[in-house]
Amino acid sequence: MRIPKGLVLMAAKIIDGKKIAQGIQDGLKKEISALGEKPCLAIVLVGNSPASETYVAKKLQACKELGMEGVLVRFDAGVKQAELENKINELNADSSVNAILVQLPLPSHINEQEIVTLVDAKKDVDGLCLLNEGKLFAGIRGLYPCTPLGIVELIESVGKIEGKHAVVVGRSNLVGKPVALLLLAKNATVSICHSRTKNIGEHTKNADILVVAVGKPKTIGAAMVKKGAIVIDVGTTKVDGKLVGDVDFEAVKEIAGAITPVPGGVGPMTVAMLARNVLAAYRMQKEEAAGGKRAGSKKKEYVEDLQ
Ligand code: GUN
Repeated sequence: MRIPKGLVLMAAKIIDGKKIAQGIQDGLKKEISALGEKPCLAIVLVGNSPASETYVAKKLQACKELGMEGVLVRFDAGVKQAELENKINELNADSSVNAILVQLPLPSHINEQEIVTLVDAKKDVDGLCLLNEGKLFAGIRGLYPCTPLGIVELIESVGKIEGKHAVVVGRSNLVGKPVALLLLAKNATVSICHSRTKNIGEHTKNADILVVAVGKPKTIGAAMVKKGAIVIDVGTTKVDGKLVGDVDFEAVKEIAGAITPVPGGVGPMTVAMLARNVLAAYRMQKEEAAGGKRAGSKKKEYVEDLQ
């Protein structure tokens, strides 16, 4: 393409999630080595979907690199609801386990909501039990979902949230709803779009911050994005063996002010926030065991305080 003389094309800043996640993990590694013991995360994996296998392998790898214990509890895809519930109860009662994550999605015969609700709130590093969801809703201390926490970090690496119009596309319990609540707590004006929203582009093109989490490639094209917007792409779909997001990256990067790539944007941040939540859960448990006194760090970084 010939670029007319004098015309300056301003492509978006590419937000390097890998680098930001690495910085966070470097800090966590130091904090963990100072503990003198290893916080322990148990991951429950049902079946062997390639995507879940990949995510779980990354989470276990991060545990290893950061000096934490990662325990994989596997069930085959035909596991019964009661068997899974018994295991969650067992992990809740096991004082050597500080954190529990049930990799989602679960097979359709399992009641997923019942399973995530059963995880002890103090060990619930996915932030999906009702108590932690309620705490996020109310804006008080708790463990919050990892991907939304990572998204907020990515946005804040390039700009301010307060006073901005944030549009979230997608309303899942894992990403859409909690990220909307976190952005609201940070004083954004938040709109949520979903599969029944009419003319999604009419909403998204007014967004200063656009978060897209629907799992459908090319949901967002250039005409749906405001010039200079911060665009966070949460989608991960395999197309012809390649991982792609929900945003038409090549087109939108010419319009946006900043944009996350897929892969290398949100994904690594989910893992870093999981590690942060495991350390938070560990500290909360130590604090409680010591009669309410906070263990270790004087910083209040370890759980989000939204008020
Ligand atoms: N599957 C995809 N993302 C996630 C996540 O953040 N947590 C869990 N438990 N399962 C997932």
